Amino acid sequence: MSDFLWWRDGVIYQIYPRSFADSNGDGIGDLPGITGKLDYLADLGVDAIWLSPINPSPDKDFGYDVADYKGIDPKYGKMADFEELVRQAHERKIRVILDLVMNHTSDQHPWFIESRSSKDNPKRDWYLWRTSSKGKNAPPNNWQSIFGGIGWTYDEKTGEWYYHMFVKEQPDLNWRNPDVRAEMISVFRFWSELGVDGFRLDVFNEYFKDDQYRDNPKKFGIRPFDQQVHIYDADRPEMMSVVEEIRATLDAYPERYAVGETFLADPKTSAKYCGSGKLHAAFNFAFIHFPWKPDKFLKFVLEWEATLGDTWPNYVLNNHDTVRSATRFHAPDNDERMKVAAAMLLTLRGTPFLYYGEEIGMRDIPLKKSDLQDPVGVTYWPFNKGRDGCRSPMQWSAGANAGFGSGKPWLKVHPNYVNRNVEAQKSDPRSILNFYRKLLKLRKNTPALQKGMFVPLTYDPQQVMGYLRQVDGQTVLVALNFGKRKIKLALGPRLNDAKWELLLSNKREELPKIQKGWLHLSGDEVCILLLK
Ligand code: GLC
Ligand code: CA
Repeated sequence: MSDFLWWRDGVIYQIYPRSFADSNGDGIGDLPGITGKLDYLADLGVDAIWLSPINPSPDKDFGYDVADYKGIDPKYGKMADFEELVRQAHERKIRVILDLVMNHTSDQHPWFIESRSSKDNPKRDWYLWRTSSKGKNAPPNNWQSIFGGIGWTYDEKTGEWYYHMFVKEQPDLNWRNPDVRAEMISVFRFWSELGVDGFRLDVFNEYFKDDQYRDNPKKFGIRPFDQQVHIYDADRPEMMSVVEEIRATLDAYPERYAVGETFLADPKTSAKYCGSGKLHAAFNFAFIHFPWKPDKFLKFVLEWEATLGDTWPNYVLNNHDTVRSATRFHAPDNDERMKVAAAMLLTLRGTPFLYYGEEIGMRDIPLKKSDLQDPVGVTYWPFNKGRDGCRSPMQWSAGANAGFGSGKPWLKVHPNYVNRNVEAQKSDPRSILNFYRKLLKLRKNTPALQKGMFVPLTYDPQQVMGYLRQVDGQTVLVALNFGKRKIKLALGPRLNDAKWELLLSNKREELPKIQKGWLHLSGDEVCILLLK
């Protein structure tokens, strides 16, 4: 297709570099490891990879605490390895998206080391330093850290507090300082010059906090963080001009892309940051919180479509912060339910984001307290086990360490790797991996599935979801049975006498029974049909 726009029409695949492929046996995934798997990704059919942060980091939050925005962490490789990855990805028409974590730095970033060294250091104002009327005995206001405890840490040396939305080793930057802002904008240019195609902006709607540092109002919640309405530490009006500046910076290069991680935000708030002159997209995490019930998904799709207006939607079932969908949906081992989930994600109107291992139905690893690496799990155990569960090494084969690398992996491999791995699934035509491949291929060759408008056939589905995707003369019907029982989907009077061709199903090779406008589906069935 000549007007193919990669971030709109394509599929984006998130890689957690630590856990994807380890090329040198130190137990940590790395850039040459990823490069070595590009053929796999090309064969899967993805159009872009998003790498979780690869900048130098002391790993208090595994890369989300950055110590140098223009460098590559040696544990992942050298700059030359990154350039080689970009070159080889582009050779395969795979775009590269980097994760930029600009709300905060590491406390080991030279800027913060300087900033905390004295009150009159030129970089003092690069972070959010405050005194409190109660001195060291109480913080300047009631803001909390989402990772536990108050959001302020007292610094003995200078007698002031600094603010951190995440762990205390992640001090928040002061985006009101023009030097901070200019420095960050230069980061976009730096990587764009190196051929990077897009950026995922970590918690970008937190960059600005209230300039008067007012207390957040209280509300009911379990954790102290949830007992506040986050009006003064998130989504401040100053953000909009930064969003515009980021877009203008990217627009100086062809086909660059920015997707924002809107944190704590509802669909309306996410949508307001997107559009022409603003970000290309912002995530919504609704799908990540739903049980396996079609009505929830459908209602949200309709709401998201309506809220976005002209902005292109996106959907995500998995990422590095959440329990994997196969675990969340209590998917039986035969993977049929996860094929239905995959079909939904890849046939809705919007950019699908996949997360490494999703295509082979990886499950969360079971965690003991002694396994924990993620600061969230360490703080909240056993109420919240943190995010290590979804970050286990990619399962490539039944070999040692699931084929991840020769050394002991930084996080344990899921015991199911013996059967659940890429190699085994490649040779099984009925595997979930091959189903993802077929779906991606179908999507690529079917304009209606990429660009077509979304027309629901069901409005309050209890078990089955049906919709059409329509574009200039092409109509595709997607029928998804979320239940184990067979069921009928009403196609409606207009489609009573329609003739169909089967494009893809996980349950049959030929057209299903369609009688008087009723489409018959088996349990856990995906059926994608083309109107003739
Ligand atoms: C985002 C990231 C998460 C990280 C946090 C702080 O939510 O997705 O992994 O811990 O920001 O950077
Ligand atoms: Ca390594």
